[in-house]
Amino acid sequence: MLVLGIETSCDESSAAVVENGNTLLSIVVATQIEIHKPYMGVVPEIASRTHVEWINGVVKKSLSDAGVTLDQIDGIAVTNRPGLSGSLLVGLSFAKGLSLASGKPFIAVDHILAHIYSAHIENDITYPYLALLVSGGHTLIAVVRDYEEIEVLGTTIDDACGEAFDKVAKYYNLGYPGGVIIDKLSASGDDRAFSFPDPSLHKGNHRYDVSYSGLKTAVINQLDHFHNKGFEKSHENIAASFQKAAIDMLIKRLLKASKDTGIKTIVTGGGVAANSYLRKSLSSLSALKGLKVFSPSLKLCGDNGAMIAGLGYHYLKKGIYSPFSVTVSPRVSGLRKTYP
Ligand code: KG4
Ligand code: ZN
Repeated sequence: MLVLGIETSCDESSAAVVENGNTLLSIVVATQIEIHKPYMGVVPEIASRTHVEWINGVVKKSLSDAGVTLDQIDGIAVTNRPGLSGSLLVGLSFAKGLSLASGKPFIAVDHILAHIYSAHIENDITYPYLALLVSGGHTLIAVVRDYEEIEVLGTTIDDACGEAFDKVAKYYNLGYPGGVIIDKLSASGDDRAFSFPDPSLHKGNHRYDVSYSGLKTAVINQLDHFHNKGFEKSHENIAASFQKAAIDMLIKRLLKASKDTGIKTIVTGGGVAANSYLRKSLSSLSALKGLKVFSPSLKLCGDNGAMIAGLGYHYLKKGIYSPFSVTVSPRVSGLRKTYP
């Protein structure tokens, strides 16, 4: 079964063709990073206008790269939640138009569930597992029992992890978007140069939650306070120390969740899943603690149409389609937080 996936929830116009939910035939990601760079952040109005200009070419290229025509596609999957409303509307309207013109069914899917699904495209992963979703808009740890049955254990109580990377980079004028830049700088920095705070584990229902607001403020405002003697106050050292603090916080909670639930498989997703310190820490954990860790390849970490096609396949295969009346929703919905 061939599914065309379309993603326009933020600043990437992307489309992909995936076979049977796990074989990637093509992926096209047109990023608007250069367009938003002067503003050091995504400007929603510009993002949606750019999607309008790009979406047709992106979808056409994904079909031709896969060597298929629209006629050979069995269904269309598209992100309709959560994200920037204006951006989501472009992809959703385009998918509805394609569906109407071709007679192929379409399914509107959840961006968060799709990020969590992305590692399934290149790996054979069995449920249940613990998911770590870390992106520019979301940070969560969840028990995943099925492609749409997830139980959120913890979230950020303020900034998302990627957002903290972006804000720290913006403050130090390191460039945009900050995640990749901080990751690269950290490679030549010493992560013990500064010791930044980790808000201690919360109790009760909030014990898997994280907070980035305090860390961000500490990095931005209180460098001298945390400056350890003998270390240079370089961008590389600051980047490496911040990165370590931001990622260690997540690892600590993941380990706790694994211990509490007895689940030994961990799956990551989202833009920050590309972070080299996170990937390195998780692979040493798998050796050390006997955990199985699956991370998407770099091209599948950030926003992409492949994860949408992959997740959409599971609905389409069961004959679950969206009506033309379906619309966009900027917010997360339906993620329960009742565990244990
Ligand atoms: O998943 P994504 O493409 O978009 C959202 O759904 O938010 O994630 C984008 C986020 C940005 O905050 C970006 O700075 C961060 O992912 N990011 C990284 C890395 N690559 C991208 N953060 C840390 N290290 C990276 N290598
Ligand atoms: Zn995303």
